[in-house]
Amino acid sequence: MGKIIDGKAVSAAARARMKEEVAALRERGIIPGLAVVIVGDDPASRVYVNNKKKACAELGMYSEEYALPGTTTEEELLALVARLNVKPDIHGILVQLPLPRQIDEKKIIEAIDPNKDVDAFHPQNVGRIMIGDYRFLPCTPAGIMELIASTGEDISGKECVVIGRSNIVGKPMAMLMLHKNATVTICHSRTRDLAQVARRADILIVAIGKAKFVGPEMVKPGAMVIDVGMDRDENGKLCGDVDFAGVEPKAGWITPVPGGVGPMTITMLMRNTITAAGG
Ligand code: GUN
Repeated sequence: MGKIIDGKAVSAAARARMKEEVAALRERGIIPGLAVVIVGDDPASRVYVNNKKKACAELGMYSEEYALPGTTTEEELLALVARLNVKPDIHGILVQLPLPRQIDEKKIIEAIDPNKDVDAFHPQNVGRIMIGDYRFLPCTPAGIMELIASTGEDISGKECVVIGRSNIVGKPMAMLMLHKNATVTICHSRTRDLAQVARRADILIVAIGKAKFVGPEMVKPGAMVIDVGMDRDENGKLCGDVDFAGVEPKAGWITPVPGGVGPMTITMLMRNTITAAGG
């Protein structure tokens, strides 16, 4: 039976340590500040943004929210980013994605000062991740690394299969695992016989955004299964990309949804903001 990796507990422990780091920075007169920008009224984005603000307050950090209407132009958003880039009490800038159609996400990401890019989405920071010279860690993959570390299992030499190749999760995840000396395979929608490839994995990381996509036939007995999905099942209930009930008896370790990867992502965003402030 799979042992549960408790994202809430790992996240709480990390936040307790970070709270002390923030307190030490405050003694030096530095209050880590995060600006969160949200454009439009996507309900999921609203929930994420509220959680980010709450996390800042909990750790003794400063945050500002900029909620812009869905009709905001690219020029207007670029002007806001330019202002935040030079605002001295703001160390980290997060522009919540996705953005409305009239705005080119790539242009906005490239306009953010790489030293304030706490999402690690700017090409300069992406490049640093590629060569293993991290300033900011990509939040979701970094959170997953902490979850794996919490199990005490070694990564070196293991077969790791990542399902999903997004710039936010799949690609940087593969790099972090590679830097820990895993043998890494990235699967995607065109992969032939995905189940067969997935069954090779000692560590299976699933980030494709399809509810309960991974069943027990795709999992090697005893494997560690990390579920990045945030989906809705046929009854509208929150679930992951992994069929938890089916896979859990076969897995060695498994993350639940909710309560697995999710809580770690914001914690890593806070870590990056503390780093940006000089912590
Ligand atoms: N939308 C969904 N996840 C993320 C994230 O990690 N960062 C930003 N900026 N937007 C997101």
